[in-house]
Amino acid sequence: MKFFIDSADLNEIRDLAATGFVDGVTTNPSLVAKTGRNFLEVVREICAIVAGPVSAEVTALDTATMLAEGRKLAKIAKNVTVKVPLTPDGLRACRSLASEGTMVNVTLCFSAAQALLAAKAGATFVSPFVGRLDDVGMPGMDLIRDIVAIYRNYPGLKTEVLVASIRHPIHVVEAAKLGAHVGTLPPSVLRQMFAHPLTEKGLAAFLADWAKTGQSILGAEKLGTAAE
Ligand code: E4P
Repeated sequence: MKFFIDSADLNEIRDLAATGFVDGVTTNPSLVAKTGRNFLEVVREICAIVAGPVSAEVTALDTATMLAEGRKLAKIAKNVTVKVPLTPDGLRACRSLASEGTMVNVTLCFSAAQALLAAKAGATFVSPFVGRLDDVGMPGMDLIRDIVAIYRNYPGLKTEVLVASIRHPIHVVEAAKLGAHVGTLPPSVLRQMFAHPLTEKGLAAFLADWAKTGQSILGAEKLGTAAE
């Protein structure tokens, strides 16, 4: 499963990219607004940090303007993925951009029927929003199960299921169990995935016992003290 970071915060992206676990980035107009920065500059800078797909969303509602925006965004860097909304106009724009060789992420997907349309329109990714479905009392993971099952029935469909609106590590684990291709994680969720209280407790106990031995694995070779 690939991990994307759902953020437009350059510091967060840089910091997490250094872990080696970041395969891509997704942004949306709300995340860009939070930065208070110029959208095109932010996208350019993210693309320089992360080699994988970086989703940048169009803001027009009609196909012609979406295409103009999408083409401009695609020129920023080779790894830009143009994000379009799951509307008839968005899917038309998706089909055209995909035929030009641009990666497209169809966003705001809330049903399996919509996901089928996105795949038929040639989307590189479809983004079902699990957290927002959970928020309204509809199990978001049921949608991931349906989309993964439908896409598996048609190996000709190359669209990847990009699980979005992830709220906690259990969402990530459940999506992985279902075979979703990608999860886009808020920075806090990726950080939470490293942590377990038993890991911390176990490490503290091991180090306390090790200190009692008075030994050092590197011994005299310790950094800065090695006799060259
Ligand atoms: C995905 O591309 C969206 O940017 C994002 O996952 C939405 O998440 P939210 O529901 O937490 O805003």
